[in-house]
Amino acid sequence: MILVVGGTGRLGNQVVRALRDQGKEVRALVRKGSEYFWLNDTGTNYFFGDLRDPQSMHRALRDCETVISSASVRVEKTDNNHKTIADGHAALWEAAKARGVKKAIFVSCSAAPNGGDIAAFSSKRAIEEAVQASGIPWTVFRPGLFAGNFADLLRRTEYNGSVFLPGKTDAMVSPVHARDVADIVAAAVDSDEGLNEAIDLAGPEAMTVEAAWKIACEEAGLPGNFWSMPPGTLKLAAMAVRPLIRRWANHFEAISVHFGQAQATDGVAAAARFGVELTPYRDAVKAAWLARHPGEDPVAREEKVVHRQFVATIYEPGTIKFDDLPEGPPPRQD
Ligand SMILES: NC(=O)c1ccc[n+]([C@@H]2O[C@H](COP(=O)([O-])OP(=O)(O)OC[C@H]3O[C@@H](n4cnc5c(N)ncnc54)[C@H](OP(=O)(O)O)[C@@H]3O)[C@@H](O)[C@H]2O)c1
Repeated sequence: MILVVGGTGRLGNQVVRALRDQGKEVRALVRKGSEYFWLNDTGTNYFFGDLRDPQSMHRALRDCETVISSASVRVEKTDNNHKTIADGHAALWEAAKARGVKKAIFVSCSAAPNGGDIAAFSSKRAIEEAVQASGIPWTVFRPGLFAGNFADLLRRTEYNGSVFLPGKTDAMVSPVHARDVADIVAAAVDSDEGLNEAIDLAGPEAMTVEAAWKIACEEAGLPGNFWSMPPGTLKLAAMAVRPLIRRWANHFEAISVHFGQAQATDGVAAAARFGVELTPYRDAVKAAWLARHPGEDPVAREEKVVHRQFVATIYEPGTIKFDDLPEGPPPRQD
């Protein structure tokens, strides 16, 4: 059994799908109140828990040989932020050690090692250090910018007519397809490749942020209007708003690094180590543009809301206490 923490996320749901495509037994950790029904078609098990509840981590890990986490926060909340995520992972690795888990995989990001004191990146560094010190065989993956981020910007331009491109528009980036990252993560589960290593992941081509945006617009048939701000001005703006809205300042600092820092370009070699051939950026951004998140699809919401899985059927998120949950989900009946 493989526990996926963050399985409801953009990357995490692809990890669940990649593992299920290989026929692996998967347990996705689902937070109370989180949307997860659109994972039903994967046949994954669910377990309600939260990184901030160490006991739920211990329970979720019953009979697991592997734990994979891609959990993180984008915009912090008072009670779920970069610090609680880092503390939660420390508890996760501790619980995994106690449960005898044989491999821990953490999806970090390319900016983590050199991200200075930017909260999003120092949190990831702390999580990386904790897994390395856990005594569990580990692999850390550090992907750069996802091609899907440009598809997100396309959705914004659809409504607003133009977008704000954070960071430096002439910075070289190698956007990577999230599904390729997920395939690499899934391939690492049963392989000694990358054991006890932190591995940078990137797409197959390097280009400027502006060129990546133009390609995305061509694929979607939308005008490529954008506006940007010099990084110095953006930093000043983040400093100015910090005393009032720290979480937005933290978010802007992080995304301006994602979009503005030169990133690893040797994605092909790293992916080949795991037998994965990378998707060209043009195809990746087109796929991300066409594949609306299932949670955004009203028909899917209507049709998939009837849950097959035991835990999902019995418990409505938000209505029970963690202490009332059973010791891990029962085996699937089908
Ligand atoms: N997007 C990029 O361009 C990019 C680039 C490089 C690296 N990365 C990294 O890749 C990883 C995955 O990114 P993503 O885009 O898939 O992120 P995402 O869509 O924001 O997903 C985050 C996941 O973490 C879960 N989560 C949040 N707080 C939690 C908590 N307290 N306990 C348990 N789970 C919690 C979320 O659950 P809910 O569904 O309940 O909110 C969600 O499943 C992140 O570490 C990210 O930094 C992203």
